[in-house]
Amino acid sequence: MSSTVITNIATLVTNDPSLGDSSPLGLIQDAAVVIDGDRVAWTGESSKAPATDNRVDACGRAVLPGFVDSHSHLVFAGDRTQEFNARMSGRSYTAGGIRTTVAATRAASDDDLERNLVRYLTEALRQGTTTFETKSGYGLTVADEARALRIAAAHTDEVTYLGAHIVAPDFADDTAGYVALVTGEMLDACAPHARWIDVFCEKGAFDGDQARAILTAGKAKGLHPRIHANQLSHGPGVQLAVELDAASADHCTHLTDADVDALANSATVATLLPGAEFSTRAAWPDARRLLDAGVTVALSTDCNPGSSFTSSVPFCIALAVRDMGMTPDEAVWSATAGGAAALRRTDVGRVTPGAHADLTVLDAPSHVHLAYRPGVPLVSEVWRRGVRVA
Ligand code: NIG
Ligand code: FE
Repeated sequence: MSSTVITNIATLVTNDPSLGDSSPLGLIQDAAVVIDGDRVAWTGESSKAPATDNRVDACGRAVLPGFVDSHSHLVFAGDRTQEFNARMSGRSYTAGGIRTTVAATRAASDDDLERNLVRYLTEALRQGTTTFETKSGYGLTVADEARALRIAAAHTDEVTYLGAHIVAPDFADDTAGYVALVTGEMLDACAPHARWIDVFCEKGAFDGDQARAILTAGKAKGLHPRIHANQLSHGPGVQLAVELDAASADHCTHLTDADVDALANSATVATLLPGAEFSTRAAWPDARRLLDAGVTVALSTDCNPGSSFTSSVPFCIALAVRDMGMTPDEAVWSATAGGAAALRRTDVGRVTPGAHADLTVLDAPSHVHLAYRPGVPLVSEVWRRGVRVA
């Protein structure tokens, strides 16, 4: 196994306070990272780096853990330009637009869906994302949901069954019948391909009791819950996430004090998705309120053709800092270690001995530039599992 040292790193984000400056980001200035095979073997000051087979000069750039995008919807076909245009002329976002993508996705071939997925995950990789979760939810038949998960599982371990995205158009007057399908035959076909189960718990999608039934059925099949919760209005999603020990409650845009308290006293991460508020012109989630209450916060793209058609974690970091009350340090932590927490992973989202050697190298002296220089393509190199991939 060959070893490589990356030296001359102006600022290294380790996300381990014990390795660095004792802040949550565990910053080391003038740092080096040693990679052995696909893992990080050592981090510290450049001058103390051990001898290795290969040497790479970071030329005074910043290095941080590869981004962990813990929420995306990348198995789909078509786009929704017209719907976006209508929103930018004053129309509001509703879950109904999902049907447009369901029709296009059902009509697409397996190859088309896979090509589309690879296009967006390559785009994300170039912007520093080295771990990503993705969901079904645009098939809504047994065969279409199972094929979406099969296609996703060829590209990531973090696959989520979202048969309960909306009630399938074929079941328009029979929500109970669709819930029975999602918790029965569809679950049986999908569970072998997925790690997680998700529900869109919202007016126009599934209510609290339906969401509980769906997630409980998934748990019984070995899937772990995560929930689209409190995106468009107040509702039971966040409380349900905590009740079921979901890894994450996603969106969290409309929260009561009781919701915030419940999250703060749980292991459920609040995953904030500012691309959605940007693309729907909605009010921003209040990250400051959650952080001040002690909630673990993740930041992700929610990349999907309807509510948030961005694959860029750096863009989401900039939005979170500008509009959601996060400091640059908090936003970078949430997009790396926070995303890992939302996937209950400790082997990604940090640059510490034993972790996967997933690194984002910025053409900038520190991680703060991600928010300080919004819209600028600062990601200059990406390493995944010890190999330079972009
Ligand atoms: O996370 N909220 C539900 N699902 C997606 C949007 C899906 C769509 O509009 O196509 C979301 O925002
Ligand atoms: Fe989503």
